[in-house]
Amino acid sequence: MSGETSLVIAIDGPAASGKSTVAKQLAAELQIVFVSSGGMYRAFTWWVLENGVDPADTVAVEALLEKTVFQCGEENNIGTIAVNGRLPEWKQLANDRVNGGVSLVAAIPAVRLRLVDEQRAYARKRGVVMEGRDIGSVVFPDTPYKFYIDASPEVRERRRRAEGIDDSIAARDKMDSSREASPLVIPKDATVVDSSHLTVEEVVEKVKEVIVG
Ligand code: CDP
Repeated sequence: MSGETSLVIAIDGPAASGKSTVAKQLAAELQIVFVSSGGMYRAFTWWVLENGVDPADTVAVEALLEKTVFQCGEENNIGTIAVNGRLPEWKQLANDRVNGGVSLVAAIPAVRLRLVDEQRAYARKRGVVMEGRDIGSVVFPDTPYKFYIDASPEVRERRRRAEGIDDSIAARDKMDSSREASPLVIPKDATVVDSSHLTVEEVVEKVKEVIVG
């Protein structure tokens, strides 16, 4: 049981499916907090790299995790995460080094346990729109508001290239879907939205229709 008491909207999906843009817009409209759980895995991966630890070295990553303190908060309705007192900038989280290591780090169960605790803590304070890979399936299985936002591989590759970021999304998707710990799945009671041919506004409308009823 995740024990949430506030409104929780869970949005999952593969890389560059548009879920983060949609989640951000929805949170702003509903005046609740937006949290990118991927941003949290990225922040710890950034810290792993800062410390010269190889993301593929599970033992070393776990040892670093034990010495790491996370401080999660929010700024202007957006979730923030400080790692041992340092708040990484977006540029430090969305680059090829982090893109290359994050799926390895996120596959480690001990890492997920720590960050899932932080994710659930948000919902104990107030309403939240959280996006990721396991938000509906593992983090908040009790919320009735579960969405899975998808898009074709071609559209997703195109969107990421348009952001000017070198990202091996096919490799990340493969790792994220095949790992043992909380793989990317479509929660059985989720509403699936294919965003390939929809605008952000159209996807937000579809999600709102389900929430408002
Ligand atoms: O923005 P994009 O969809 O490309 O990725 P992200 O949401 O920032 O997530 C980056 C990585 O974090 C994913 O490829 C997963 O390996 C991991 N992740 C996860 O394991 N579980 C989550 N709930 C969210 C992200």
